Amino acid sequence: MELTLVRTKASGIDTDVVVLLDWEDGDRGKSSPPLAAFYNSGEITGKLLEFTLLHGLEGYKSRRVLIAGAGKREKFDTAALRKVTGAAIRFLKGKGTAGVTFVLESGPSGPARVQAVAEAAILGAWEPDYLKTEKEGKAIASVAISIADPDPALDAALEKGRILGQAANLARDIAVEPPNLLTPLTLADRARRMADAHGLTFEVLDRDRMRQLGMGALLGVAQGSAEPPALIVMQYKPEIAASGDHLGLVGKGVTFDTGGISIKPAEGMEKMKYDMAGGAAVIAAMQAIALLKPPVAVTGIVPAVENMPGSQAQRPGDIVTSLSGKTIEILNTDAEGRLILADAITYAKQLGCTHLVDAATLTGAIVVALGHSSSGVFANDDQLLARWMAAAKEGGDKMWHMPLDDEYRDQLKTVYADIQNIGGRWGGACTAAMFLKEFAGDTPWIHVDIAGTAWLDDAKPFLAKGPTGVPVGSFVNLALNWCDLS
Ligand code: BES
Ligand code: MN
Ligand code: ZN
Repeated sequence: MELTLVRTKASGIDTDVVVLLDWEDGDRGKSSPPLAAFYNSGEITGKLLEFTLLHGLEGYKSRRVLIAGAGKREKFDTAALRKVTGAAIRFLKGKGTAGVTFVLESGPSGPARVQAVAEAAILGAWEPDYLKTEKEGKAIASVAISIADPDPALDAALEKGRILGQAANLARDIAVEPPNLLTPLTLADRARRMADAHGLTFEVLDRDRMRQLGMGALLGVAQGSAEPPALIVMQYKPEIAASGDHLGLVGKGVTFDTGGISIKPAEGMEKMKYDMAGGAAVIAAMQAIALLKPPVAVTGIVPAVENMPGSQAQRPGDIVTSLSGKTIEILNTDAEGRLILADAITYAKQLGCTHLVDAATLTGAIVVALGHSSSGVFANDDQLLARWMAAAKEGGDKMWHMPLDDEYRDQLKTVYADIQNIGGRWGGACTAAMFLKEFAGDTPWIHVDIAGTAWLDDAKPFLAKGPTGVPVGSFVNLALNWCDLS
């Protein structure tokens, strides 16, 4: 999709469709008399996501005008603008639309709004149909944003929106790949291609190297599958660093989670192909970071495995020694994400990371607790937490801070090893986070459980069904804003 900024007035734009925002409580009709009949009849109300497509509207050079309901003016923010944009793109798709121009008013929040429209248009256009041999509806080839403001910051904002939107779509492209095609090695290959294209340092640790290092927790999960594991490492170094800080982004990369010997029920098991969504988000965030060049060193780490119940699979009762040296009693092989993350977090610390954020489709319990709108956030450091929440808010990812009190540690006690890999019946998202905290130690760390937010079971007006790309924007904003907050 081609994305441009134009400074032409709405009425003079020569394109297929011009999109005009229309607020519920707006001063309408007067400014565009041809629309008065629509308003007076009550056909157009301005309600959020109400769309009316008009042909040959008097006074407009474009062939069609889409009146896009933006809701109440006082409630209208960049989140609402994102929704309207994405939904307009999806509404127009397949209606013979080649080019669309969104019209924005000039004003102080111009850059934020241009960025939001650019990003949301790219996100809205994405479809999970890459393996369909006959696609439904032709893609929109070009999107323009019209704003009567010469501010050069708007061009940079467009570029940032493009980079963020394309990164989120890269995460979705990877996450949507079926598990027969996306194995740990092909995931590493996707990451390598991204890193090579954007000049990032890249390395993959194979099984032998992991054995040498002593990554017993990760290897234990991998041993039930014929697909070899891979530990993907991508590194970005700024030309001028604002501080000695080194941010580590860690993403769970289970390319398929059968549960292993503690096997999952058949119903819905196909969904466990998105158990690498955290890893996909880290790879995609590294792409945007390479392009936007934040002032902090960032290392992306993705432990990639397939959790299968093969004849070599680990058993409940096994005790493994993790890279940290801590021993772990495996009581449920389906609690595999925390095992691979334990070694990845320890490895990130060994590489010198001073601050860590992990994203993982870690527990069904977080879906019970929060549903599908907010990701669960756990932290051992208030300052990093505040930075994370601010970055997420800016990127439009909803996050909810969850508790991580020492009490949860009691559920992980075992007489046979240093820690066991599951807690009791209650608070499963919290005990999973507590397990990870053991390995983060004193390093400031955030854990984001995206099990409920990384995948949409039903399409939204502004977003296709399937992977969402969460939390790519939060990762990137955290890095970009690093010096502002320290
Ligand atoms: N990948 C799953 C968590 C999950 C569940 C992600 C639903 C997305 C949707 C994870 O590996 C898992 O199986 N967790 C178990 C932990 C349990 C065995 C302690 C769970 O949540 O049931
Ligand atoms: Mn599992
Ligand atoms: Zn899993």
